[in-house]
Amino acid sequence: MRISSKIAKAINDQIAYEASATHAYVAIGSWCERTGYDGSAAFFFEQANEENTHLLKFTHYLNNGGAEAIIPATEKPQGKFNSLESTFQVGLKSEQTVTKLINNLVEVAEREKDRATYSFLQWFVTEQIEEETLFETILQKFEVVGRDKLAIYQIDQSLASIRSEIMTKRVNQQQP
Ligand code: FEO
Repeated sequence: MRISSKIAKAINDQIAYEASATHAYVAIGSWCERTGYDGSAAFFFEQANEENTHLLKFTHYLNNGGAEAIIPATEKPQGKFNSLESTFQVGLKSEQTVTKLINNLVEVAEREKDRATYSFLQWFVTEQIEEETLFETILQKFEVVGRDKLAIYQIDQSLASIRSEIMTKRVNQQQP
């Protein structure tokens, strides 16, 4: 087996978190959908798809490395929220937790001198920088645009396309 049992255990813990994050975002999207925040609902459902993609990336990595991916049961996620803004605060907190977990995983790979896993994890390191920036940028909008009904409506409307806008802006900023 190429992947050590220590690495397999650490990645399986990560799979468990990605599964929880997938369901947490579906639950937030579902609350948004019920509450009339259609742009945000689309955003969170897409976010759930991304988390599920992460779960699958880790699953394939373990299974193809001779280890066993363990698909966990997950706890019921939070289903009620005080405001649209609070859903993004929950999202940012979750992404900050993922960043810490990924950094811990990188440290385990370093300690185990597992170069392949270290290299595999770099994609997630970059992804987490993007994810945290995305949520921070959205939360900033509440400061800038405001929190009255019209402002929240405008923010919600902008969310359907915000991911591609932010990504395009970032790519342009990186160009010489
Ligand atoms: Fe799978 Fe957003 O971390």
